[in-house]
Amino acid sequence: MLRGRFITLEGLDGSGKTTQLKRLAVWMKKRGTTPVVTRQPGGTATGDRIRDLLLDSRSERLAPLAEMALMFADRAQAIAEVIEPALSSGKAVLCDRFTDSTEAYQGGGRELGSDPVLAMHRVFCGGLQPDLTLLLLPSLQASLERARRRNDRVIAQSGKDEGRFEREQEDFYRRVWNKYCEIAARDAHRVVCVEGDLNIDEVHQQIIEAVSVRIFEATNG
Ligand code: TMP
Repeated sequence: MLRGRFITLEGLDGSGKTTQLKRLAVWMKKRGTTPVVTRQPGGTATGDRIRDLLLDSRSERLAPLAEMALMFADRAQAIAEVIEPALSSGKAVLCDRFTDSTEAYQGGGRELGSDPVLAMHRVFCGGLQPDLTLLLLPSLQASLERARRRNDRVIAQSGKDEGRFEREQEDFYRRVWNKYCEIAARDAHRVVCVEGDLNIDEVHQQIIEAVSVRIFEATNG
């Protein structure tokens, strides 16, 4: 059995990655490869509870190291329950965020540095790496405005405030942004960066080009 391919989407809050992930899943399905779609934090029953704890605005005193540990607890559960079983049965997996998010947000944003994140990745994820990471980097300002609008909409509709990260200041997001750029330069063999304020169709086009070349052509050839 050929192992499935592991694709992750990354970017700042409000970068449009969740919309793009859904469109990519539909496109892959039309090509005959139905992916398993998941997200982090969350994606399992335990992970959803960890997500609530992490994103709730009431968790504002959570220490950065505790936050990082919870991200990895969620990830270890998702790997055991969803990701690894799918990949080893030959299915493709599309994951909304993975360890690059922890490196960017906790390593960069919270200033814990890359080293502890990469060390925890080795222990908690057994070094599992995506075959391809699509990093969406529209301008910082556009991302922040979109994330805040979305959070206000969610609170108005469901009363659930998942906006703990969106409340962070611009300096925090600038550090997240810089760390993402550092990861993209370091891991250029796996990270494809979609930069600039493109519209949804233009971003989708760049994504399917990257997936076609790096996943489908690589698999067929
Ligand atoms: P989402 O809204 O894209 O699902 O992401 C939830 C928030 O969690 C987002 O602000 C980024 C943050 N996050 C981290 O800080 N570290 C991580 O490892 C992950 C996966 C998410």
